[in-house]
Order: sequence, then structure tokens, then C-alpha cells
Amino acid sequence: MFKDSLTRRRLLSHTLASGGVAGASYLGLTRELSAQASGTAAQAEGPKLKIYDDNWMRRENCDIHLIEWLDQQRITDAAIYHFGTGGHHHVGIECAKPERRSSVFGITASPQEYENYVKLVTGRPEVLRYYNVVFGDIYLLNEKLLPTFDVVTLFHLCEFRGPQTDAYGGLTDLAVTNLLTDKTRPGGHILFYTGSFAFEPAKVVIAQWEKQRRVERVGEYKSVLVYRKAA
Ligand SMILES: C[S@@+](CC[C@H](N)C(=O)[O-])C[C@H]1O[C@@H](n2cnc3c(N)ncnc32)[C@H](O)[C@@H]1O
Repeated sequence: MFKDSLTRRRLLSHTLASGGVAGASYLGLTRELSAQASGTAAQAEGPKLKIYDDNWMRRENCDIHLIEWLDQQRITDAAIYHFGTGGHHHVGIECAKPERRSSVFGITASPQEYENYVKLVTGRPEVLRYYNVVFGDIYLLNEKLLPTFDVVTLFHLCEFRGPQTDAYGGLTDLAVTNLLTDKTRPGGHILFYTGSFAFEPAKVVIAQWEKQRRVERVGEYKSVLVYRKAA
């Protein structure tokens, strides 16, 4: 299947490179590839991405308390990885303000929340400078595409992983936590949400993680559980 599709792509690029022959087979091939790209072709078999089919507009305590904690710690100009933007984009908007100027790299698995982001930054380019969001799945994180962060939020650990995630070989919650810890600078912070509906399973993951990475528990700020990576 893969080999076949590769061969067809090569054939197309070869046809284009050699000046483009507008024959029936060429047109059929471009139409098919274009349909594949736009998602209108018959879907390839295989598991589909587990999206978050909602647009979360109510600011949860975790996001509110994160901003309070940053201010209490006088953290500005930081690089922050934020798991679960919400459709309100509270963290990105707040961090972009002149008094904070922290840069936030957010991830959402919700097409609707991502659409809100596009509308937000289209109207407010000054927010875009400090706030980038990807539509994606945290369980498909690719370490090669991530820089180093000062602060990582894992507020929704264990909340949304499911059999569908396993079907496409998604990372475990522990693997995500380890990966993002490796992407945290020494002395940087990793934060969890004690108010999460999945905090019980998350606690199990955190206990395993403490044995696998050099981190120390700093304490709690309201609903936010704070760890520091060893310097
Ligand atoms: C309940 S909302 C909370 C949003 C925000 N943090 C707040 O506290 O208001 C959960 C968020 O997690 C995101 N999410 C769910 N599953 C995800 C996944 N697999 N990868 C990345 N983000 C995900 C959703 O897109 C949504 O933004």
C-alpha cells in the first residue's frame, strides 16, 4: 500500500519535472492526490485521530491559577508548554500581555478551539508573537519538533487518552511526562492539576515519573501542583 502510493507520487513528480503531460492518466492522478490532501477521497483504512470534539470556553481553575502562580513567582519572559488551550485561550492571551511577555506553545486537540485561535491572532497579531498553538495530539508528541521550556503544564494528564490512542500507537501518559520533562530546562517547572477529574490515575503516573526523572516536589499553589526539575 505504502510502496504503491510512493510510486504514484514519484510518477507524478516525475511527470511534473519533465514538463507535464496533460494526459488522462496524469489528470486522474493529480485529482486523486489532490482529493487525498483535501480529505475528500475515500478515507484510507486505519485508526483516526482522537480529537477533542468540543470548544471549552469556561476557564478552569488550572489556567487561572497558573497565571496567578506565574505572577507570584515573578516569572516573565519564560517559554511555556501548555497542554490544553481551551477555546478561551486564556493562558496565551494573559502571558502575551506587556507585563508578562512569556511565550506560550499551546496544544489543542479541538478543531473548534484551533479555529478560535486563528480568529484570535488574525485580529491580534501582537498575541501571535508570544502565543503559538498547534492542533495536535499530545500523545503523538515528536521530541524533534520541540525546543526547551522553562515551564510545562500537564493539567490534563490521563484525562483524554483511550483505546483509540493505542490504536495509532500514541505515547502513554508516563512517556509524555518524561518527554516533556526532558524538554524542560534544569531548574524549570512541571505543573499538574489537582482538580483534574483524572488526578487519581495521574498521581500513579507522577509517582512512576518521580522514580524515572530527577525532579522534586516544590508544593501546591491552589489547584496547581508544582515540581522542579533538578538543576
Ligand atoms: C476541559 S478543556 C480545558 C482547557 C483549559 N486548560 C482550561 O483549563 O480551561 C481540555 C483541553 O485539553 C485539550 N486536549 C484534549 N485531549 C488532547 C490531546 N490528546 N492532545 C492535546 N490536547 C488535548 C482540549 O483540546 C482542551 O483544550
